Order: sequence, then structure tokens, then C-alpha cells
Amino acid sequence: MSELTQSSVWKSLESHYESAREWRMRDLFARDAGRAQKFHLEACGLYVDFSKNIITQETLGLLRGLAMEARVPAAREAMFSGQPINITEGRAVLHTALRNRGNSPVMVDGEDVMPRINAVLKQMETFTRRIRSGEWKGHSGKSIRFVVNIGIGGSDLGPSMITEALRPYGEDASGRRLECLFVSNVDATHLAEALKKVDLEETLFLVASKTFTTQETMRNAQSAKAALLERFAGDESAVARHFAALSTNIQAVTAFGIDPENIFAFWDWVGGRYSCWSAIGLPIALAIGYENFQEFLSGAHAMDKHFREASLEKNIPAILALLGVWYNNFFQAQTHAVLPYDQYLQRFPAYLQQADMESSGKSVDKEGVRVDYQTGPVIWGEPGTNGQHSFYQLLHQGTKLIPSDFLAPLVSHNPIADHHGILLSNCFAQTEALMLGRTREEVEADLREANLDDAEIARLAPHKVFEGNRPSNTILFEKLTPYTLGTLIALYEHKIFVQGVIWNVNSFDQMGVELGKVLAKKIQAELAQVEKNPAAELAHDGSTSTLIRYYLEKRSQASR
Ligand code: F6P
Repeated sequence: MSELTQSSVWKSLESHYESAREWRMRDLFARDAGRAQKFHLEACGLYVDFSKNIITQETLGLLRGLAMEARVPAAREAMFSGQPINITEGRAVLHTALRNRGNSPVMVDGEDVMPRINAVLKQMETFTRRIRSGEWKGHSGKSIRFVVNIGIGGSDLGPSMITEALRPYGEDASGRRLECLFVSNVDATHLAEALKKVDLEETLFLVASKTFTTQETMRNAQSAKAALLERFAGDESAVARHFAALSTNIQAVTAFGIDPENIFAFWDWVGGRYSCWSAIGLPIALAIGYENFQEFLSGAHAMDKHFREASLEKNIPAILALLGVWYNNFFQAQTHAVLPYDQYLQRFPAYLQQADMESSGKSVDKEGVRVDYQTGPVIWGEPGTNGQHSFYQLLHQGTKLIPSDFLAPLVSHNPIADHHGILLSNCFAQTEALMLGRTREEVEADLREANLDDAEIARLAPHKVFEGNRPSNTILFEKLTPYTLGTLIALYEHKIFVQGVIWNVNSFDQMGVELGKVLAKKIQAELAQVEKNPAAELAHDGSTSTLIRYYLEKRSQASR
């Protein structure tokens, strides 16, 4: 039995849950006219309503007790102050230093890392200005119009989600816009389709990889380089005008043939999924301009300050984390939906999938002991209103409890007719419907009103009942600006952090992705081997060996 589940506060929460599972949120609202006021927080331009949760002040008090028991405030300080909290890799975790706009010293192994961070930011600023102004010329003397970011996971999801989210900020004073494309999948289709959209003479490739060893990225980068060299009749000097690297592995970048001048560095204390604030953010700066990139960092810094300084009671990331623990560990909810009512945030759920699931998808605690409680939920979602016409049926009437976050701007970047009013009406209506549901009595009254006879009412009523009592948080912000997006991402980063501390897992490694990588390399070598000698042994389980042989057989038939 773990310390966590044996703690007296955990046991209190278990018995508290026995009553809470019977509560109806509609009753909680009926009993307390001030509930929406009590259960909301405002900070960094965000308005967070968490009143539509199956909680009382007592619930929150107990959950805060859990956070105190797990020593969340001390863990928070350890992260901000550069302690090596990534214990399996022996590293500090300092994405917060990357956006430390106050520039106060942040020490790692006795060294203030801020000068190094500021130097790379300066390099990014100069480069961004040169590219965006057209001063930087490609090999044939043309300015850059296209940026192709080649990276995967944290070296792709952040920049691609953010450049899409901040599309309104792309144009420069003369209306010029750099077109940014993202190639992540090793499926050649991803690269091929991107290359169809660009003119290589006007293209800058950014090879984004913390390790500079990731198979997908290296393969795509080599193929992109080959395409460029073909375009310039094998002239290697073209590479320096069309390739830059964002990496911690300077040696490997140089070996790849990228000009050392075009290397944007970061460091091992920046986790891949926390790296959009580092040199990995270069495509963002190129897309939205350096000033806007600074705003993005400032938004995150504001959230860092809030997270670091606010008491647990008034702390937005901590509250969202505690609510997540409440449903995950006591209501046994398996998933959590993220539902942005802003089309520009369409990739936000995908981004959070890596941020959250790579961080919290662990089943041993920091001491290496198998946990006896649930850790991270499955994160998923789609922008509203599209989701409403797809999976919301299950949210409303399915058998699973799915807590959700609704995110919405008050003002649209595209104020056309009454679109935004319709959008937000839908957002508010959904959280209301999820919470209130529709009782049998209400349904029967509606059907009577529609003049249905008793038999028909009895037949239809059960299908029209909504149990309701489905929890949600609503996060409102004025407009999706670089600053706001910075606060939102940092909010979720810190939520993930708090949950990791409570579950006592290392949120900053990702060893679960290794095994597949190793086996893929082995199979790749075998494919070549079996091709040469069809009788060669395949040392796999029966299913995998059969699949490999089936593939090779069909491939050779198809190529005949
Ligand atoms: O998929 C595992 C992972 O290590 C992620 O954590 C990381 O963001 C991604 O691969 C890419 O890694 P790199 O930036 O080193 O290419």
C-alpha cells in the first residue's frame, strides 16, 4: 500500500466521496445562490469558473490537504529554483526560466542560466528580423517565404499548435506572411505534401530536435536536404542558406552539415514537451514576429508568478489539478476532455495530449514502486461546436463520467455577423446541459406539451432523459492573443506538475516511448535481411513475424 492511499487525508477523501457521489450539482446551485462567485478565480486575464463541479468547500479543503501532504509548495519551489527534480535523468526542469521576463538569476549547478537563455533569445530575434524583413537570402538570392519545421513530439506539437493558434498575428507591416509548414511523421507523405506547397529557393528548413537523434526527424531532414541539393544541382553550399537547427546536440547538428551560425541551442533541463519557450519556439517567432513571441513568453511568465505566489486556495493551476485528482482517483474517471470554443485552438487538445499523457502516463512512483492508484487520465478533445455533432452524445448520455474543460475567448478575431454569439451560446449551453441534465419529469412534461399520448410518452421518455451532473470547468479570456496563449499553456503545464507531485511520479521523463523505438530499429534491420534471404529467421511472436512476412510478400508482389 502506498503512502498516498494510506494517508489520513486520502481516507477522508474516500469517505467524503461516499456522500459526494450522491450529490446533484443542480441541488448545490439551488441551495447556494453565490456558488458561481465562490467557485471561480481570476488571474492573468483568465476567468475560471469551476462551480459546475461535484464539490463543496469541504471537498476543496480536503483536496488542498492532499496537496499539502504531498508537499506541493516545496516541490514547486524546487522546480522554480532549478533543483534536479527530474530524478531518473538527474536534471533540473526549467522551462519557467526560459520565460523568466524578470531576468532574476536561476541557478543550475552553481551557474546562472539566464545569460545563456538571453543570448539565444537575442540570436532568435536577429534571425527572425532578417528572415521576416527579406534581408536573409536563399542560395539563389531570393528571400524566404516558406518555413518548414521538421520535428516530432515536443519539437512539433507546440510550434505547430501555437503558430496555428496565433495566425492572426502572422502578417508584417506590409502584409507579408511567412507560410509555416510542419513535417513530423516519418511517413514520406507528410514531407512530400509539404514540398509540393513550397518553392525550395524560398524555403527555410528548421530541423528541430532536442536530441538530434530522433529517427523520424533525422530521416525527414535527410530527405529534405536531398531535395534541396537536387534543386541546386548538388551544391552543398546551399545548405547553409536553407537549413537551421534547433537542438541541444551541437555535435550532431554540425555532423549533419548545418552551419554552426544557424544553430539555435537549448539545454537538457528543457523537456521536449515543455520546449516551445526555447529555441524550439523559433518557428513561432518567425511566424508571429519576435515582439509577439516576447508577449507569448510574458503571458507564461505571468502564470508562473501566479502559480508560484498564490495560495493553493486561489491558485488556478492547483485548483484544476485537484479537481482532476478528485475525478480521476475518487470518481474513477478515465478520461478528461479539452474543448476549445475557438477554431484557432484546434490543435490544443493534441498538444495537451503529449504534455499531459507523456508526463503523467506512469505506473511506478518516484521510488520505482508500482502505484496502487490511478495516475494520468486520457486527454482528448476537439474544438466546439464540431465536437457537439460528434462525441458530445456520449458526454451527455453515455455511461462514463467525463470531466471537461471548456475554453472560449470573449472576442473573436473574426467578428463576422453573429457567429461569435452563436459560438459562445453553444459553449455556455453545453456546460449547462451537462450539469443540469433533464429529468424524467421534465421530459414527460415536454412530451405532454407536444400532445403525445401516454404510451408514446412512456416509450420515448427514457431516451430523452439526461442524467446530468457531468462536471466541467469554463475558462474564459478576452481574446486569443500571444500573451493569453502563453498563460493558457503555462496553466496546463503547472496543472500537470501539481498532479505529478500528488501522484508522486516523475512528470519529466518518458521512458515509455523507448521500447517501440528499439523494436522498430530491429524490425527495420530484419526487413533488409529477409529481403536478401527469405528463409532468414524472424525472432518475434507469431503475430508480429506473420505481419512482417505478409508485408514483405505483398510488397514484392506489388512491385512486380
Ligand atoms: O516521443 C518521445 C520524445 O522523446 C518526446 O518526448 C520528444 O518531444 C520527441 O520524442 C522528440 O524528441 P527530439 O526533440 O529529441 O527529436
